[in-house]
Amino acid sequence: MGGTLALLYAWESPIPPVDPPSARTLDPAATRRGASLALLGDCTTCHTAPGGAPYAGGLAMPTPFGTIYSTNITPDPETGIGRWSEQAFIRALRSGVDREGRHLYPAFPYDHFTRVSDDDAKALYAFFMSIDPVKASAPPNQFPFPLNVRLTLAFWKLLFLRQVRFVIDPSKDEKWNRGKYLVDGLGHCSACHSPRNLLGAEKTSASFEGGEAEGWRAYALGRSSQSPIAWDVAALTDYLARGSHPQHGTAQGPMANVVDNLSLVDRADVSAMASYLASLGKGEGRSDVKIPDPSGPGRLPQVAGVQAATPSIPSDPGGAIYTAVCASCHEGDRPLPLGGLRLALSTAVAGETPANLVNLVVRGIPASAGGSARPIMPGFGDILDDRQISDLTNYLRTEFAGKKPWDGIAKAVAQARGNP
Ligand code: HEC
Ligand code: HEC
Ligand code: HEC
Repeated sequence: MGGTLALLYAWESPIPPVDPPSARTLDPAATRRGASLALLGDCTTCHTAPGGAPYAGGLAMPTPFGTIYSTNITPDPETGIGRWSEQAFIRALRSGVDREGRHLYPAFPYDHFTRVSDDDAKALYAFFMSIDPVKASAPPNQFPFPLNVRLTLAFWKLLFLRQVRFVIDPSKDEKWNRGKYLVDGLGHCSACHSPRNLLGAEKTSASFEGGEAEGWRAYALGRSSQSPIAWDVAALTDYLARGSHPQHGTAQGPMANVVDNLSLVDRADVSAMASYLASLGKGEGRSDVKIPDPSGPGRLPQVAGVQAATPSIPSDPGGAIYTAVCASCHEGDRPLPLGGLRLALSTAVAGETPANLVNLVVRGIPASAGGSARPIMPGFGDILDDRQISDLTNYLRTEFAGKKPWDGIAKAVAQARGNP
């Protein structure tokens, strides 16, 4: 009887298929708004495979439980969501149930999208129905038993999915409310920036205290931030909209996709998110960090016609590597994103774990295919051995962050070398 009750609980009914709405019936203002919401929600990033058609799915997402592939959300009637009614789409977005009634894995962040308003959910639907249909099917997910049984997800939802719509806080201004709506809802920022429990659900009691994403550390934000210079609204707005800030550096790893998307949306939405984030509090920062004077030449200037002097090499083995290998770019004071940041300003050196610093040293920042000016940094994984990377990391941590060396460097190096 318990089993029957459980099945009844987990059961979701199918929603009948419809004919794809024709482009003529879609409200152009709604589709335009939906396009911007799709960027705010990173639908583009997760639902596009490398080199694949936009929104056609197939991106492999490794999780601690197995690999899941995003699905085709173009309006193709056979392989996409062309036969989904608006109601079916909104149920998927907010409850994680597909048109046929199957539970969806929470790698699709519906635990955040449940906060999306009716109007925005409808605008997203209009946008997805307006894009070109693409025929493409995602490879099957690789989950071990019993996780490969979608009904088990009903119990995950029972424990962790709260059906909550966003409620305006009348004691705060409109901008703050807009920012909170976007950060907690479509932006799903805490999905990466918070720790998760053993069942893969966010620890809501530790929201924004920092989390892991694809082998990268998504730093703590708000009052637990380890950023050497505390973030303010202006810096957050700049960083989120442009992908870099002169006192904070550039967004790398999975954050690079987030800022790419945010660079294309209305700046007022980005600044609303920044003002909400800033209201979460400030980290302590460090009072002794020197902010380089952007007009003056650096210690090792990277400007036309000036030859940098050969710096003296410290006796510390990590310091010697830094001076010989890194300093010419990171003490040249060339403007971001093309010059390297003074490492005393970088959360990668001051942050909670060595993951991002080690990723950057091992793999560098590869050149991107797009036409925009992007930073490039060589990777040193083939040149430096594990011992040298560990010496270098310890040196940077003590010299530039003034903190004790991290534990677990060897593990971070092994992960960075193994991470695709
Ligand atoms: C972090 C990655 C991620 C983001 C961001 C994301 N999705 Fe998904 N989405 C997925 C994955 C993975 C699945 C497949 C889940 C499964 O198979 O159970 C999925 C499934 C879906 C489905 C169900 C499709 C089907 O055929 O069953 C819809 C609809 C959908 N997403 C829409 C969206 C929209 C709209 C957005 C943006 C507001 C979005 N997704 C953002 C990862 C993501
Ligand atoms: C897919 C995971 C992911 C999502 C979603 C995400 N972030 Fe991040 N974020 C990261 C990672 C990883 C870093 C570290 C990047 C680096 O080292 O350059 C980061 C860095 C940041 C930083 C810089 C912090 C510092 O001290 O240097 C800010 C600010 C930030 N994210 C804000 C946001 C906001 C706001 C959102 C939601 C709109 C968001 N993030 C969504 C993964 C994510
Ligand atoms: C050829 C120039 C160059 C060299 C050599 C170089 N870098 Fe970089 N590095 C860059 C650029 C450009 C960026 C992107 C701008 C930025 O964020 O600092 C960057 C980014 C970084 C960042 C992220 C800073 C942040 O928070 O935004 C770290 C950490 C870093 N480099 C460490 C190193 C270390 C350690 C070495 C030596 C092993 C090194 N780099 C060598 C050019 C270089």
